[in-house]
Amino acid sequence: MNKQILLASRPTGFPEESNFQLVEKPLPRPGEGEFLVGASYLSVDPYMRGRMNAARSYADPVKIGDVMTGGVVGKVLESRHASYAAGEYVVGQFGWQQYAVSNGAGVRKVDPSVAPISTSLGVLGMPGLTAYFGLLEVCTPKAGETVVVSGAAGAVGSYVGQIAKIKGCRAVGIAGDDEKVQWIKNELGYDAAFNYKTETDYRAALKARCPNGIDVYFDNVGGPITDAVFSLINSRARIGICGQIALYNLEKPDMGPRLLQQILVKQAKVEGFLVFQFASLIGMGLRDLTEWVKSGQLKYREDIAEGIENAPRAFFSMLRGGNRGKQLVRISEL
Ligand SMILES: NC(=O)c1ccc[n+]([C@@H]2O[C@H](COP(=O)([O-])OP(=O)(O)OC[C@H]3O[C@@H](n4cnc5c(N)ncnc54)[C@H](OP(=O)(O)O)[C@@H]3O)[C@@H](O)[C@H]2O)c1
Repeated sequence: MNKQILLASRPTGFPEESNFQLVEKPLPRPGEGEFLVGASYLSVDPYMRGRMNAARSYADPVKIGDVMTGGVVGKVLESRHASYAAGEYVVGQFGWQQYAVSNGAGVRKVDPSVAPISTSLGVLGMPGLTAYFGLLEVCTPKAGETVVVSGAAGAVGSYVGQIAKIKGCRAVGIAGDDEKVQWIKNELGYDAAFNYKTETDYRAALKARCPNGIDVYFDNVGGPITDAVFSLINSRARIGICGQIALYNLEKPDMGPRLLQQILVKQAKVEGFLVFQFASLIGMGLRDLTEWVKSGQLKYREDIAEGIENAPRAFFSMLRGGNRGKQLVRISEL
């Protein structure tokens, strides 16, 4: 049997258990040109909140009654596909379920001798590539510049600060608790950081930690943190909009200060990006990320919940900041 988690209803505000339904279906069988994957780890990610809404953003919503979308790494258990053999590990969008049948579209093979397979959903997967391309291709940091990162202790943010350091920049992080702040400073090499849940004046906190102003802002969160960063940008600053998690559970967009004049007078560049736009460069990104992980220059942390049944709870925890590094769910020991 195949345990699956379906989208049962669309949330209003913060999602709830009742928005999901756990079902058991017969094990799917691969047809000609297909293979069966047994899931090892499922990734739960902020973008999934958007897919629970009815409105299309950059991708179609999950339909009510469909298996929740999600990145999974797992093992090929049975293959009728010429390019995939039983026993190989693969990562793909196989969804919140124990088993999936695939024709290979959008699937990448994973070499378990390079790093633990779970990293293909984190530092050596979509979040790692988001940090890499978002920082290096969109924000184009130069050695000596100050790079501010929001969501700095999360999956993407924890890699961004380290890549900024590899490139010779000063990295300043903003995160949601003291342990995260200490971790990114003491273990990851961020030059300075603060806890946005205990600081009341974000502008003053940033000003104290960015004496030369802000050249690059890698934005994972949006909202009042981002408003404060904008007020301190230098001329020709580059702002990469990676995510706006502070807004994902709002029913109506909230109104902030109007900051375009600051962009104008500082001749700054603000650019939103999606990791998929760099698909043709994935080989280069994975090569660099793998080298940095192997050399110890790029550290990572994983927060692993147990069992498909706990996927919704792991997802809620990540949305609330309960995750320590990349939030994953272990589906089986395959
Ligand atoms: N553009 C792309 O292609 C792309 C790809 C991947 C991810 N993203 C975006 O990148 C961001 C980070 O994703 P991730 O996968 O690395 O997740 P993550 O950072 O590992 O987890 C989400 C984190 O968001 C923080 N958070 C939650 N609510 C917040 C709020 N109101 N204000 C400030 N921080 C809040 C929490 O950390 P604290 O404890 O610090 O609050 C939480 O740990 C998300 O916005 C995501 O949508 C974009």
